[in-house]
Amino acid sequence: MSALNELYKEIERCQDCELAKHRIRVVPGEGPERADLFFIGEAPGWHEDQQGRPFVGPAGKFLEELLASIGLRREKVYIANVIKCRPVGNRDPLPKEIEACRKWLERQIEIVQPKMIITLGRYSAARYFPNESISKLHGKARKRGDIVYYPMYHPAAALHQGSLRKTIQADMLKIPEILAQAENLVQAQTEPQQLSLF
Ligand code: URA
Repeated sequence: MSALNELYKEIERCQDCELAKHRIRVVPGEGPERADLFFIGEAPGWHEDQQGRPFVGPAGKFLEELLASIGLRREKVYIANVIKCRPVGNRDPLPKEIEACRKWLERQIEIVQPKMIITLGRYSAARYFPNESISKLHGKARKRGDIVYYPMYHPAAALHQGSLRKTIQADMLKIPEILAQAENLVQAQTEPQQLSLF
């Protein structure tokens, strides 16, 4: 069994927070065992909880459109969430739920070894850039170690607000160039470094 499939089996058994009691399906994430791009959303919604797959509702449809704008299908990238079970009534995830789920995302990233982590929305941005607002962070790439972090607005927010929609579309279009640039910057950075190009 592949390392990811073994990990999914562990995640499916997880009872480390209250959300486990209410889920229909765990939504570990999906994608290739190795992928350059690793997208992190917030939490499963109703559709995801039903199907056990991330981003399969309206926000997922928009994410697929955004990926198509840079010539990618969703199967080519890794897609996960900060938490793996749906919060009841789609409420915001609680800090203790995010903390309980942290280990799973870390292990996914270790296995997939992405070159670029794209955070979608403020909960996943906060994992890497606590205390910074998404309105300042979005669309700017920063390198830590060998990974480039690139915050974007959440597709669900952008779906409902015309101005954010254009911003998220523009931010997505920058990804191929940032990825190309990331490959040139092989030296690990000890401090977060904003890439001068963007
Ligand atoms: N929103 C998310 O953040 N994740 C999903 O999987 C679906 C919607």
